[in-house]
Amino acid sequence: MTVSLTPPPRPHLDPLRHIGKDGANRPRQETQRARRIADTTGPDRMSPQGESFDPAAADPRAFRDALGRFVTGVTIVTCNTPDGPLGITANSFASVSLDPPLVLWSPAKRSQRYPFFVAAAHFAIHVLRADQAPLCQAFARSGESFDAARWQPNAEGVPLIDGCLARFDCEKLAEHDGGDHTILIGRVRRVDTLPGEPLIFSGGRYGAFVPEP
Ligand SMILES: Cc1cc2nc3c(=O)[nH]c(=O)nc-3n(C[C@H](O)[C@H](O)[C@H](O)COP(=O)(O)O)c2cc1C
Repeated sequence: MTVSLTPPPRPHLDPLRHIGKDGANRPRQETQRARRIADTTGPDRMSPQGESFDPAAADPRAFRDALGRFVTGVTIVTCNTPDGPLGITANSFASVSLDPPLVLWSPAKRSQRYPFFVAAAHFAIHVLRADQAPLCQAFARSGESFDAARWQPNAEGVPLIDGCLARFDCEKLAEHDGGDHTILIGRVRRVDTLPGEPLIFSGGRYGAFVPEP
């Protein structure tokens, strides 16, 4: 038997064709959205109003600003240390796997809190609500801002903060070098959620999510 390694044609994904709601297959340029995309994208379209740079050679602020265009939520990550509970504001949180349930976040190597988080076998990640910006700012300033929160320790002594949108109680599974950060992967042992709206972080500013009408 001969096995072909050429993938089968995928007409729906042909960038030059568009299958409309009516099922008609017409050139993509005929659709309004495709025209908008064609008008605003492409390497020759980005440079005139914007910037193009090699992040390894440019001012690091420009790279930071570019990364800041990716909107995130905000979390507080907590762990237990020999000196007591520790927390840190982090937006490097990401989901990794549903089965097994894995998440990640990345502490910066230059942070004074870094050695404690990397040493911790357990940690908890708290996704903040829209009205929790003060908590976020408190834990950005100091890892010992627990007076600003209601919390209790879990069986491993990890501080669990109450009233967050979602809470992921994790056991550290792996750590990977990530340049000036370390990527910590946690296996989620327990999840708690509450209804509410998320705190949003974009371009260095906090806000609330506004859905399309
Ligand atoms: C919105 C936001 C997101 C942040 N995300 C991270 C992060 O993912 N990883 C990290 O190490 N620090 C992050 N920080 C910085 C820490 O919260 C904290 O300010 C920093 O660790 C302070 O330095 P120190 O630990 O030496 O006191 C973030 C800060 C803010 C305000």
